[in-house]
Order: sequence, then C-alpha cells, then structure tokens
Amino acid sequence: MPERWTPDRWRGRPIAQAPDYPDMGALADTERQLASFPPLVFAGEARRLKKMLARVVAGEAFLLQGGDCAESFAEHGANNIRDFFRVILQMAVVLTYAAAMPVVKVGRIAGQFAKPRSSSMEKRDGVELPSYRGDIVNGIDFTARARLPDPRRQIEAYRQSAATLNLLRAFAQGGYANLASVQQWMLGFVKDSPQSRRYMELAEHISEALGFMQACGLDLESHPELSTTDLYTSHEALLLGYEQAMTRVDSTSGDWYCTSGHMLWIGDRTRQLDHAHIEFCRGIKNPLGLKCGPTLKPDELLRLIEVLNPDNEPGRLTLIGRFGADKVGDLLPPLVRAVQREARAVVWSCDPMHGNTITSANGYKTRPFERILQEVKTFFSVHAAEGSYAGGVHLEMTGNNVTECTGGARALTDEDLNDRYHTFCDPRLNAEQSVDLAFLLAELLKTKRIARAQPLPAAARQ
Ligand code: TRP
Ligand code: MN
Repeated sequence: MPERWTPDRWRGRPIAQAPDYPDMGALADTERQLASFPPLVFAGEARRLKKMLARVVAGEAFLLQGGDCAESFAEHGANNIRDFFRVILQMAVVLTYAAAMPVVKVGRIAGQFAKPRSSSMEKRDGVELPSYRGDIVNGIDFTARARLPDPRRQIEAYRQSAATLNLLRAFAQGGYANLASVQQWMLGFVKDSPQSRRYMELAEHISEALGFMQACGLDLESHPELSTTDLYTSHEALLLGYEQAMTRVDSTSGDWYCTSGHMLWIGDRTRQLDHAHIEFCRGIKNPLGLKCGPTLKPDELLRLIEVLNPDNEPGRLTLIGRFGADKVGDLLPPLVRAVQREARAVVWSCDPMHGNTITSANGYKTRPFERILQEVKTFFSVHAAEGSYAGGVHLEMTGNNVTECTGGARALTDEDLNDRYHTFCDPRLNAEQSVDLAFLLAELLKTKRIARAQPLPAAARQ
C-alpha cells in the first residue's frame, strides 16, 4: 500500500518544467499567502462536472473544451471575457442542436497562465535569458528583469482568475446565456460570413421551437435550464506550488480538491509516471485531463490510467490526444484498443491544435485550419472503427478577430497573419474559425446521431 497522499508529496519527486525562482523565501511566503485565500471553485462544482463527464463516457454528452493557449495580465478585460463566452455559447448551441445531446462546456480560462517550454533558455542576438513561462511566472519582454521568475505574479494570477470567474458566473447564470437571446449572440463580423446565414437559420429554428413550446403551455420563464448554463474552468496543472496552495479538504466529503479550477490537466511533457505532476494530480479528486502525444505507448498509458484513476471512476479522466493530422490515424488506434481491452472508463477528447503547428513562409508560428479539421475527422473515424465514443474536442481559441491560424471559411493566408497576430503563445482559432469548426463538428455529430437512430437490420439484431 502506498503511503497516505498529501498535497506536498510531489516535492520529493523529480520535476520537469519548474521555474528557477531566485528567492525561495519569497516563493514560500507567496505560497503561504495563497493557501490562506478563499477557494476559486467549490468541490461540489467539480463533482458536478465529473458527473457530466461520466455522461460523456457513456456516450450521452459531448465535451467542448477551449480557450486561450495562455491568458495574460495585459489582456484582462470584460470585452475579451464576454467575446470568449459568446463564441463558446454559439459553438455549444450549434453542437447541442446537431447532436441532440448536452454539451459540457469547459473553458481554458480563469487560471490558464503557466506554460511548458521546449527550452529553459531563449537566445536572441547572442543574449541568453530564461524562457517566458507564462504570466504567472515571468514577463514576456526579452529583458533580464522581465524574465526573472517572480512569485508575486502568482497572487496576481489568482486575483485575475477570481475576477474572470466572477464575470463568467454572472454571464452563465445572470441571463446572458438565455436561449431566448440566441439571435443576440451574433458577432458583428460574422454577419457577412458564410457562417452567419447558417447560424441565423439555426437561431431561427431554436426561437421557433421555444415559441412552439410556449404555445403548448410550457412556461419558459420557470425553466432555468433554458435561461442559464454552466461553464466550467480548466487549466494545465503545471505550477505545482500554486496548485498545492489552492488544494483544500472538502468539508462535505473529506476529500482533497484543488480549488484553482474545476478540471486540471497534465501536459504531455510532465506526464512521467514517477515525477511530481502525476504524484500531485493523483491525489486530488477533481476531474483530470491527460494530454497524450505521439511518444505515448499503450502500456505506458495503461499504467498512467491505473495511477490516476485506480477505481475506474467514469468522468475522472479525460484523455486528450494531440498527435497531428498525419499521425493520429496510426497512433490513436493502439491506445484505444489497449483502453478497450482493459475496460477503462475514459473520455476520449481530441486536441487538434498542438500537433499541427507549423512555421509560415513569412515566419509566423501558425496552424492551418484544414489540418486541424483533418485531425478531428480522423479522430471521429478511428473511434467509429474501434467501436469507442469520440467524446469531445479541446481547442485553442479566442472570441477576438485575430489572424493566427490560416484557412477557414475566410481562407486566411500567410500574408493575413501580419494583420492581427496577438497570441502570447500558440496560434488560436479566431471567433469565426471557431464557429466554422463547430458547424463541421456538427455534421460529424449529426451523422453519428442518425446512424444511432437507424434500427439495425434484422440479421444484426439479436
Ligand atoms: N442549460 C442548457 C445547457 O447549458 C441549455 C442552454 C441554455 C444552452 N443556454 C444555452 C445551450 C446556451 C447552449 C448554449 O446546455
Ligand atoms: Mn498551447
């Protein structure tokens, strides 16, 4: 039997991607201060998300997870949060309608600040400085001062997360998400796009359906499920000192929950079995994500599942594949088969962003929309072939009209990347490309729904 888990046990383990803080005393002070702050999310909410994810495991719901690659202190504003929320609502409505099933909405937001880096130092014109690791660690400017890890940034990240979450809760529960307003979520710049007509058409259908139900005597006002929604928060559990400080015993269940976000995921670079990140995450009861990249072998995955979800609890673990459009067809099936063979209950989600990053002809880090779509399509066809459930997607996206990924309905070119390339880290789908992707996903989900609804031929039915 392993020793009893405590939130600080990870400290005895090897750790990847940890910043080098110059002043360990100041870091300890900050962590003590954070530990005294109120939780950002509640254990009961994390349990509710887990229940919803269990429905995804059962093939009764679909997971939509998305948001910034990295949140930043500089871009913390109400408009950004509203625009993100609106695009998530638009996508969710498109998917809910097509799949005729609930969509579990999870933002990469209100805590997505820490970034893993491929190299701990960055060199420019002969000058070498620590790499930027996200606003919660250091500053993005290429100066010695900005790049020095500063623990006080963790307090700022906490406060920004609290303010973001506050606004998200207001939007979700306070009327903005009311299905009766589905027409008002139209984005100005979507108006003249090919998507706007489809979206307006869908909005029309929903309004008609609501009108019909009202005429039948249903009092829409008395049904909060029509006027409110739940948006859960998630981020990569990378900066373990911060996560430990936010980990508390839930008084209802007596279990440990990390209260910095509802769902936490483990990155592809920090999923070593005997390392700190796995040790920390295994002990918290939140729903967990595990990023699965091209180097992950089936037996290694099974061992990770055994550690992270020993009781095979549905909803506890979401496997987020990020292979690349050209690799997913070869690398995903062996993982799916291993998981099926051992009857492991997991959500299969597709991150079509991180395996499809290229450098454009004019030097931008970008992602072609066609490749993103291709990875999603292959993900669906692999699951159809293996008899497993394609349960969700994990996207890097923004509500803003940026130009970071090429392609999409507006066919953004390499040249267009010059216009509004704003990301602090990886290229994100803009609002229009996100809705575009939602419509393409909707087609995949609809095909599946129709296939499900068809009665089997007599010969196959027994
Ligand atoms: N409450 C349901 C849900 O969240 C229906 C709903 C209300 C909804 N507002 C929404 C669905 C906005 C999508 C978008 O799924
Ligand atoms: Mn990223």
